[in-house]
Amino acid sequence: MTRINKYLSQCGVASRRHADKLVTEGRITVNGAIIETPGFKIDESKDEVCLDGQVITPAEKKIYLILNKPAGYVTSLTDPQGRKTVADLVTDLEQRVYPVGRLDLDTEGTLLFTNDGELAHRLTHPKYGVKKIYRARVKGRMRRDKLVLFPKGIKLPDGNIGRAIVNLEKINDEDSIITLELTEGRKREVKHLCKAVGHPVIKLVRDSFAGITCDGVAPGKWRFLSAEEIADLNYQVKL
Ligand code: URA
Repeated sequence: MTRINKYLSQCGVASRRHADKLVTEGRITVNGAIIETPGFKIDESKDEVCLDGQVITPAEKKIYLILNKPAGYVTSLTDPQGRKTVADLVTDLEQRVYPVGRLDLDTEGTLLFTNDGELAHRLTHPKYGVKKIYRARVKGRMRRDKLVLFPKGIKLPDGNIGRAIVNLEKINDEDSIITLELTEGRKREVKHLCKAVGHPVIKLVRDSFAGITCDGVAPGKWRFLSAEEIADLNYQVKL
């Protein structure tokens, strides 16, 4: 149970003192009945509180978290085909959060979630050029001269041009490990780019998104962002 003046201030309607005044002026109703004492307690889960006849609800708290997505989970809150989704991994939260952008079913790694719509919109908009770093195992021995193709830009199936800065980390007999830095974020961009240069992706992991990593977070687990990380995200997209 919550005191009505505290509830009104949580809703951003008034300071607690001013809330007392609204009550004594008879402007607050709970379930349709005018209340008269500022100490009146309500049950937030079921009582309907109105100011001057308008229903009021608490301002939604913004939350931000990072999931270390394992392969085999769809980046969606529900799946019509009944497959496992990332929402199955992000549980026990009071607010509903949404994934920022997407990772393919078989892609692993850093996936941000929030209920901050404006930040999410900007982080995924190509205009803001947010940096994403991927590590890919690709088929075949990649030659160094292939690396120069990526920053020049490669035509994607959707007609756009994809650009990446690529480093060759390791060359094995049958595959190579590369890291790619991208700033646009087109659908299946890494897979299309690698295929276009003759080295299809075998395994893909996103190591970081806008500088945020999953270091220390086990696959399938998540953590809240720190205040510093949230401030930095806002700064990167001019919020
Ligand atoms: N690029 C891809 O091809 N797949 C992803 O999941 C992310 C980026």
